[in-house]
Amino acid sequence: MAEDPDVVSRRIAREALDRDDPTGWFEHLYSAASEGTAVVPWDRGTAHPLLSEWIDESQPDGTGQTALVIGAGTGWDAELIADRGYDTTAFDISPTAIETARRNHPDSKAHYVIADLLAPPDEWHRAFDLVVEIYTVQALPIPLQASAIEHVGELVAPGGTLLVIQAARPDDQADADIEGPPWPLTRAAIDSFATPDLRMIQLTESPSPVDPTVLRWRAEYLRD
Ligand SMILES: C[S@@+](CC[C@H](N)C(=O)[O-])C[C@H]1O[C@@H](n2cnc3c(N)ncnc32)[C@H](O)[C@@H]1O
Repeated sequence: MAEDPDVVSRRIAREALDRDDPTGWFEHLYSAASEGTAVVPWDRGTAHPLLSEWIDESQPDGTGQTALVIGAGTGWDAELIADRGYDTTAFDISPTAIETARRNHPDSKAHYVIADLLAPPDEWHRAFDLVVEIYTVQALPIPLQASAIEHVGELVAPGGTLLVIQAARPDDQADADIEGPPWPLTRAAIDSFATPDLRMIQLTESPSPVDPTVLRWRAEYLRD
């Protein structure tokens, strides 16, 4: 009998983490999913509900603006952003994720590219009017998160907006007690996206409709 795809997904992550390869498992997972032997647990086939909520509330007009979607996976969030008129770049470390995004959205106006958040192209430095980060930082082991958070902030242009959506955990829950992935973010970690010129202007913490025991941060920051 074929193995349960959920079990395969967890095993792929665990094996790469045990090899000390914290980002290698994404490509293995997307490629196993494209062959039908695993599932990508976060692939909703639609944009993240908290991103849709933010769009509904903010009604951003992306005309003449650039946007960057981090860890874009199979592209559903990037499509929503591109539909708002932004000249949208969406990137992922997994070549198969990018290939799948292009296949899912053949008429897309977004540019799908392979890149690493931990070593982004120089020309992206402070280049985007809107940066959207959903669940990439929390998918990285805790020792890598501070560097990832710093890189996220450095992608936001002067006057630009950063939107961050992550699973939440209490500040008093010890790092050692989290058996990721994912490794949800504390309030302190969410605060650490802010710098003297990248100010947090909105923060909500809300339960997931799928599993109300899971809380999610939705944070918005503005660069001076
Ligand atoms: C948990 S998934 C979230 C995907 C998507 N943002 C969503 O919310 O559905 C994390 C994504 O980040 C990508 N990723 C992980 N590390 C990355 C890195 N260093 N640079 C770029 N993408 C990365 C993975 O391949 C994966 O698609």
